[in-house]
Amino acid sequence: MHRVFSRSRPTPSYRRSSSFRSRQRKVIFSGIQPTGVPHLGNYLGALVNWVHLQKASQPDDQLIYSVVGLHAITLPQDPAQLRQEKRAAMATLLAIGIDPTRSILFHQDEVSEHAELAWILGCLAPLGRLNRMTTYKAKISTGKTDERLGLFSYPVLQAADILLYKATHVPVGEDQRQHLELTRDLAQAFNQQFRAETFHLPQDIITPSKRIFSLRDSSQKMSKSAADPKSRIGLTDTADEIALKIRKAITDSSHEIVWDPKDRPGVSNLLTILHACTTDPALDTSATAEFRNTSLVDFKSRVAEAVESRVAPIRSEFHRLNSDEGYIQSVSRNGAERARSIASRTLQEVKSRIGLEAI
Ligand code: TYM
Repeated sequence: MHRVFSRSRPTPSYRRSSSFRSRQRKVIFSGIQPTGVPHLGNYLGALVNWVHLQKASQPDDQLIYSVVGLHAITLPQDPAQLRQEKRAAMATLLAIGIDPTRSILFHQDEVSEHAELAWILGCLAPLGRLNRMTTYKAKISTGKTDERLGLFSYPVLQAADILLYKATHVPVGEDQRQHLELTRDLAQAFNQQFRAETFHLPQDIITPSKRIFSLRDSSQKMSKSAADPKSRIGLTDTADEIALKIRKAITDSSHEIVWDPKDRPGVSNLLTILHACTTDPALDTSATAEFRNTSLVDFKSRVAEAVESRVAPIRSEFHRLNSDEGYIQSVSRNGAERARSIASRTLQEVKSRIGLEAI
């Protein structure tokens, strides 16, 4: 297996059962919200693996990537802006290298089976589990939203996204681990309750970068919704914007360039970014001997150059694609059609298991 992704847990016992003895065909599913330009955290934390898995996959593996509009509306969105963000998210995924002839690329909100399966899984989801979701608590604590049912059940909808395609692997950032645990538990609860082998228990695939932090506050993850745009590097930022944001990135009073995420989180975050942008992201981030005689200013310019060389081709491809409305539309339509044909089969199977098939 290529070094870019690491499995977060050992092979579960269900995969060793007789039906999985031969090479298991992988079904890879992941999603991104259309809530602003995807940033370096999205890219290094998850999207690089989407592209990598596409390259490393076997011909019979299936790759399904989705722009998850129904998740976006769990927080207030302006309709005109959301429309634009949906297209921009699709253009970004194409720009980073998702090939719509190899992977199914679609808008989740255009495949209504997601909402229907979410309802069914919601009927199995214990409230206590949802109450403990750290992502929910973090969003509520910002004070930007009231406690709403949609936001509360966000992880159930995510589980539906994944299980609808009977996914085996889900490339995501580290912040999504708890959602994947819930997904496995809901899959298992369904299988047990209805004495079925309907769902696989999907595994998360996390990049070595795991989590990229805000450039303004290294106790927070880099986020699309943070108020200060200097806290994140967008995949469409210009070279000047990138250089400025990294120059202004908050570090600390020490000028030594060392890897110490606990006591030197700002510098360590920049090292993570540098290593992920320059080389194989699996390389050891702590190898900082080369910076022993480097000033913080020079180090930051090295980081900025590395980020720019990674972002520049994405940025220009994004601008080319985002203005080609016809192409984006045809990719979206074709993707939704292919997704629907899988989703409707699973939903039919699920409904017949629970006694809700059409009569
Ligand atoms: P979203 O749009 O918030 O994030 C998309 C992906 O980017 C990762 N990510 C990060 N990784 C590292 N460092 C960061 N600072 C950072 N910020 C974001 C996220 O972990 C995610 O992988 N809930 C999902 C969307 C979703 C989904 C799904 C994912 C809905 N249904 C089904 C997988 C499977 C999310 O966080 O989107």
